[in-house]
Amino acid sequence: MFDFLSFGKTPEMIKKRKTAFVRVQRFNPDEDEKPYIQEFEVPMTPETTVLDALQYVKTELDGSLTFRKSCRHAICGSCAMNVNGSNDLVCHRNLPESLDKTGVVTIKPLPYLPVIKDLVVDRTSFWEQYKRVKPWLVPPEDAPEKEFRVSPEEVAAINSAETCIMCGACYSSCQVIAMGKDYIGPHALLKSFLRVMDPRDTIPGERLDISGGEDGAYRCHTIFNCIDACPKNLNPTEAIETLRKLAQRRIAFEEERAERQKTLTEAAD
Ligand code: F3S
Repeated sequence: MFDFLSFGKTPEMIKKRKTAFVRVQRFNPDEDEKPYIQEFEVPMTPETTVLDALQYVKTELDGSLTFRKSCRHAICGSCAMNVNGSNDLVCHRNLPESLDKTGVVTIKPLPYLPVIKDLVVDRTSFWEQYKRVKPWLVPPEDAPEKEFRVSPEEVAAINSAETCIMCGACYSSCQVIAMGKDYIGPHALLKSFLRVMDPRDTIPGERLDISGGEDGAYRCHTIFNCIDACPKNLNPTEAIETLRKLAQRRIAFEEERAERQKTLTEAAD
């Protein structure tokens, strides 16, 4: 069928549009049997974000629209949603650039997670898997008061993993999660990698038993959706691959860590 709305529209013309049609998935468990799409017309400038558009709808058009947001600076990870079929943080997603030729953007909740209301999902399984990997550092019992001197190479190895903001975009894009398997997931495996590779940590063997086990690195099918979905451009797949390799030489790795730890505490004395 001929598409009258998009006929003759160039990217420049789309950028000059003054309004966008924002299609939002709605679902109120108290009233609706199943989710449905509702469309709103929203004013915009070249700088408007998708979150701005949702906020406009809530403030000006329908106060019942429900979504999570907090920092508006891609730091807190609260506003991860599915925009035009891919997961992203809506606070750093430009609205004009997200429109199709007809001026439409479609916003849905993160997939494969139970919907609480509209764009808010239940992240219980996400956090439960996170807790499984003991995401906190376990330093030596006799840790000195002074700082540990970690080498620049050791810092570089974990630096990017440290910038994960736990938004859930990777977790809810993973097809293993979609299949409902008990899988630790890319977010928690990335955190596990962060702790395993940290020379100050004393329980790398225990960590590798968990994250290198059946529900962990070996359940990853190397689908790479997690890389595409990550708004911070992190690489959970590479971290998972490293965990797999380290799990295969767990005992040797534990011994290496114990040796390294001696030099760390000695240097700090
Ligand atoms: Fe899932 Fe990423 Fe592995 S999408 S299957 S964790 S490569």
